Amino acid sequence: MSEVKKEFRVATGDRAILPEGTRLVPIYIMGKKYMVPETMTIQKAIEYAGYQFIRSCGCRGGICGACPTVYRILGDYHLHFCLACQTVVQENMYLTQIPFFPANRAAYDLEKVDASAETVVKLYPEVMKCVACNTCTKSCPMDIEVMEYVNAAMRGDIAKVARLSFDCIQCGLCSSRCPAQIQHFHLAQLCRRLYARYLVPQAEHLKPRVADIKAGKFEAMLKELVNDDQETLKKLYVEREMEPQDSTGWEPQDKRFL
Ligand code: SF4
Ligand code: SF4
Ligand code: FES
Repeated sequence: MSEVKKEFRVATGDRAILPEGTRLVPIYIMGKKYMVPETMTIQKAIEYAGYQFIRSCGCRGGICGACPTVYRILGDYHLHFCLACQTVVQENMYLTQIPFFPANRAAYDLEKVDASAETVVKLYPEVMKCVACNTCTKSCPMDIEVMEYVNAAMRGDIAKVARLSFDCIQCGLCSSRCPAQIQHFHLAQLCRRLYARYLVPQAEHLKPRVADIKAGKFEAMLKELVNDDQETLKKLYVEREMEPQDSTGWEPQDKRFL
């Protein structure tokens, strides 16, 4: 069986305006063949074929993680993984959308745990079953070093997990493939929360502002905004004052709410 090369191309058309000379190519949605323009993303091609997304579509910009897609190309035994909104169709793609993957999520109170390997292993004991196959990394559409962060989590290197997993969009493709049934994205989210709560230095300059908010200093301003009509809000937005890059000594003209 010959291996079909995986191509990456840029999406240039949508369903209304197609570039001149665009060919129609066959793709398979839930096993059924459709002819779609070769320039479309998988997401647009599915819509072109007549489907309407109710799940499995969100931001359309590669951020929300709602459109993870698994596909094979006819004649190639490999499984491929991508985001439908970011990947252009290829001839003879057999597509499956996975809008949600049922990964187990541990319950915890962030104030009652610490940033350590013990916390991670207690909440996600399966992490210790990693067999270092690297399948998770290979299935990640965000090119995240997933196995690396799983290994860092085992060692209690919470900062490294937070850094490596920062671009995770929680699509779940890694967890769908893991032979050890690890819940990578929930585990990484736990580590990012631990990192933010216990390891990253606190922003001292924010403390007085947070105290102001808690003391209700901005309630009157909010009340005024809520009661304004749409036209007044638009005017306020257009005329809003912008703090300059070099804001030393800068103050807004309207000082009523300072
Ligand atoms: S897929 Fe699972 S077992 Fe394989 S490296 Fe990733 S976490 Fe470990
Ligand atoms: S780490 Fe897993 S959940 Fe996060 S983007 Fe990669 S495959 Fe998706
Ligand atoms: S629709 Fe949000 S990542 Fe694709």
